[in-house]
Amino acid sequence: MLKVTQQPDVISFGGGLPAPELFPTSEIAESTARVMERVGPAALQYSVTEGIPEMRSWVAQRLSSRFNRTIAPEEVLVVNGSQQGLDLLGKVFIDPGDHIVLENPSYLGAIQAFDAYEARYLTVDTDEHGMLADSLERVLDRADPFPKFLYLIPNFQNPTGRTLAAQRREQIVRICERYDLPIIEDDPYVELRFEGDVLAPLSSYAKRGGVIYLGTGSKVVAPGLRVAWLVIPDEETREKVVLAKQGADLHSGTITQYVFHDYASTPAFEEHIRQIVHTYRRRRDVMHDALREYAPASVEFNRPQGGMFLWARVPGLDTTQLLRVCTRERVVFVPGESFYPARDVRDGMRLNFSNASEERIRTGIQRLAKAIAEA
Ligand SMILES: Cc1ncc(COP(=O)(O)O)c(C=O)c1O
Repeated sequence: MLKVTQQPDVISFGGGLPAPELFPTSEIAESTARVMERVGPAALQYSVTEGIPEMRSWVAQRLSSRFNRTIAPEEVLVVNGSQQGLDLLGKVFIDPGDHIVLENPSYLGAIQAFDAYEARYLTVDTDEHGMLADSLERVLDRADPFPKFLYLIPNFQNPTGRTLAAQRREQIVRICERYDLPIIEDDPYVELRFEGDVLAPLSSYAKRGGVIYLGTGSKVVAPGLRVAWLVIPDEETREKVVLAKQGADLHSGTITQYVFHDYASTPAFEEHIRQIVHTYRRRRDVMHDALREYAPASVEFNRPQGGMFLWARVPGLDTTQLLRVCTRERVVFVPGESFYPARDVRDGMRLNFSNASEERIRTGIQRLAKAIAEA
């Protein structure tokens, strides 16, 4: 698919890429110059595994009000993209054959990270408001062996764009506390909310530090910086993850942490988030309206309140087969099958709306609708 999307006449709803024309290139250049002047050689030197103190404090401060408690900078570990966070957590928690609990469907990159440690998956049913608490309870009741952790994405989930309802967040935390099951809360899209109330993270309900939180600069600044963070309240777990990171890469890039921190401390950062939210909201609307206008009546699709993805279903159609027809029509998406660990549901598709212009989104949806009608 990546090869196909390199061709300029192909419209891609496939990747999970931010809009490159909105990247704050001149601001990052200014921040880099300031860092070189202010920090100098220390920004180019080896540094501590946990991350530079400025970044850890920035994360602790930004998240404290959302978590409804004061986060200590020591709880924060800077990582090389949240993808590295997932890999390190896999390394620390998973022995071959261990079970992990996931939403069904779930993020492909997490499944890949956990696959490397030979995990097996217990899947929990979801609806338009995310994971179903009673389904989770049933899964945990029956689980043998007992799983190592629950992994979920609470806001504008990848791939479905769904958001876990507020009431379910607390329920899920309480259930996991009862079973003593750690939760990994992966929250890359929280800042990309187009409308509706910001919901408290699962971390804010946790009484005993049972939730490990992942955040990232990839969606709010640029994925190329690879600056992301973990909040790990439990000291013992944190030390293990730090050791795992030491073995992997010693530490995340020093200069990128300084540059990210410098930029994120300016008013331009908040303005930038407002701008991407504005642009993505319009693109979501264009995609949704185009689907309503052009897609055959059998196609079901949602209207996520944020993030970068819309989820569509074509009951009775295998979307992996559909992709072949779509490639001929010069439009691509990610077939739903890959997001189900058992690969047993084949009628879904993930449609990314952040990376294409409004005009290309409309044209792409027209092509997609034609391919569905043909198939
Ligand atoms: C749910 C989820 N987790 C993690 C990542 C990886 O993000 P990062 O760029 O921080 O590695 C993504 C990227 O698309 C994602 O959707």
